[in-house]
Amino acid sequence: MPSQHPSHILRYVYGDPVSTGAVVCELPVTAGDPAAFSVRHDGTAVSFSLDVEPEDLMFGLGQSVRGMNKRGHIYRSWNTDDVMHVEEKESLYGSYNFLIITGPERTLALFLDDPGEITWDLCHTSLEQVVITSLNGDLNLYVMEDCTPAEACHDLRLLTGPSYLPPLWGFGYIQSRWGYASREDLEKVVRGHRDRGIPLDGVCMDIDYMDRYRNFTWNREKIPDLAALVRDMKKEHIHLVPIIDAGIPVDENDAACRSGLENDSFVRREDGTLFQAAVWPGLSYFTDYLNTRARAWFGSLYRPMLEAGIDGFWNDMNEPSLFYSPEGMARAYEIADEMRGKNLDLNGNWRLQSTFQSLANSRQDYASFYHDMDGRKVRHDKVHNLYGFGMTRASMEGMHAYDPDRRFLLFTRSSYIGGHRYGGMWMGDNRSWWSHLKLNLQMLPGLNMCGFLYCGADLGGFGSDVTGDLLLRWLELGIFTPLMRNHSSTGTREQEIYQFKNWEDMCNIITCRYLLLPYIYSEFMKAALDGGLYFRPLAFDYPDDRDACHVDDQLMLGGDCMIAPVYEPNAIGRSVYLPEDMLLVRLISIENLILEPMNKGYHFLPVALNEAILFVKRGHVIPLADGHFRCTDDLAQAQLSLLGWLGEKEQAGYELYTDDGRSYAAGKRRVLRSDRVDGSYILRRNPS
Ligand code: GLC
Repeated sequence: MPSQHPSHILRYVYGDPVSTGAVVCELPVTAGDPAAFSVRHDGTAVSFSLDVEPEDLMFGLGQSVRGMNKRGHIYRSWNTDDVMHVEEKESLYGSYNFLIITGPERTLALFLDDPGEITWDLCHTSLEQVVITSLNGDLNLYVMEDCTPAEACHDLRLLTGPSYLPPLWGFGYIQSRWGYASREDLEKVVRGHRDRGIPLDGVCMDIDYMDRYRNFTWNREKIPDLAALVRDMKKEHIHLVPIIDAGIPVDENDAACRSGLENDSFVRREDGTLFQAAVWPGLSYFTDYLNTRARAWFGSLYRPMLEAGIDGFWNDMNEPSLFYSPEGMARAYEIADEMRGKNLDLNGNWRLQSTFQSLANSRQDYASFYHDMDGRKVRHDKVHNLYGFGMTRASMEGMHAYDPDRRFLLFTRSSYIGGHRYGGMWMGDNRSWWSHLKLNLQMLPGLNMCGFLYCGADLGGFGSDVTGDLLLRWLELGIFTPLMRNHSSTGTREQEIYQFKNWEDMCNIITCRYLLLPYIYSEFMKAALDGGLYFRPLAFDYPDDRDACHVDDQLMLGGDCMIAPVYEPNAIGRSVYLPEDMLLVRLISIENLILEPMNKGYHFLPVALNEAILFVKRGHVIPLADGHFRCTDDLAQAQLSLLGWLGEKEQAGYELYTDDGRSYAAGKRRVLRSDRVDGSYILRRNPS
């Protein structure tokens, strides 16, 4: 990213904020309160309120439920492991405290660098008022005014640093499932794809590869030689991506536990004893990721797997997710004992049930341990939302300590602004619901605004049984998301595409992803390097077009395209709003692209089940890779075509970005030019 200074930001400080690591550029403190807000102090809490206009739109907040326009709900920054991503939820896995309010009269954006609990009442209590409350009252508040929404995002990136760069193979199709445990399981998945010509670049290894769910171990019976497995997979151009969770088992026979104790890297209670809570392996210790020394220790644990050839990981359970603490469980048993044998009425029954249901992720547990933030002792609940960020940072710093020049794949479930410098993120445990396909689309722009460009949801849905039509429609969105991973839970229907009768249609759609990769990769890298956005709501590009501003189910993609996936069951098509003339590209297979010029305005578009649709702005061209690819490695040899709709004698150029896809060595930007064309649209091979 060019070394510029954010030009629209003013910084205000409240209370005594901790240093979160989110910001990379120190700004002077402005005295007083920001003029746009009325500020109220209530005990320790500080609230910022603002009257808004009926036309004002609200964007940002990273991963959260509901539409792209966040107006009309109350959100809560409080990282939570919650599998029910439904409309009423206030919090999900991460906290992304950046909000843009934009309307005909003004644009205003704010970033609260505050890792504690925050409520965002966005015209929920009062239809025309926003009230943002920091419960701790210790924060750095950054306010951006006199700028466009895109400029506010650019300034945020200058303030918080550039987005993480994944390797090129991280843009390939990745197959995952909670359940692959052995070398044979993984080979079966690879064969399932390769034998049918389904492109594939990676396979994720979920907790089943581990020895008794212990991080940095693998089951030696099922995977006798990890290095040999990685080597054999690489011959097939497949990268294995193991999961790493936050908890370290309480067991001195476990190497990570022993060295963590020796290095004093785990969080402690007020009285200095080690905090414990259960996750997958049972009772676990939790690394103090907010401490530089502990982070370095955790990062060093990746080394043996890196030495075995692994070059990508996913980080999970890092809200942190706590199933129960021994103290919480003891209290629950006391209540259960008290109620044993009693005839329970409604209240008694509810009390018993909620006693056990509320064991997980309890506020009491989060308030019972401390971090050593490099000399400053802080109770966890005051900085709760930093934990996933800290883990991602520790992981990537560990990988870079091993090889500073290599771009590793890393995506996490929980994060915070600042975490976008160290890894991407996936959207957690969604379900095989049509509404979650739409939610996937709607979560993308908010994450991009917060710097998380490399992101995606579990395609097909994690929980519940997917159907062949839902998975196909989901892939028709997934071909555009930087992380394109099919992942599902144990106990659900097997979700590899070859398990479905219509797998050939799915395969064709996945091959279209590879066809689009020169464009997707260029646009992603340019957005990451220039502080731009890969996905944007239409309101960012067409602020003066009222209809465009209110579109909540289409996205601008890069500088030239728009997407409008079908997300409803049994749909024969969908309504689309075109803010300008565009070329509709129906992607059916690499041999079968149907091109239709379309005029600005509203359309009902028939879209067959086996078609993904993409719109290219008139007068623009995008590059496509010619050929059938097994994996991203094959792309290096690809011939390119240019696709676009140009008027007579009109010419267009496309700025292609290419690099080695593996290291941080600078890439090249070169402009591909279309020739003069006579037809209304072009598909030109081998542009100069
Ligand atoms: C969590 C993750 C999910 C994973 C499972 C088992 O639920 O979100 O992706 O499959 O844990 O590790």
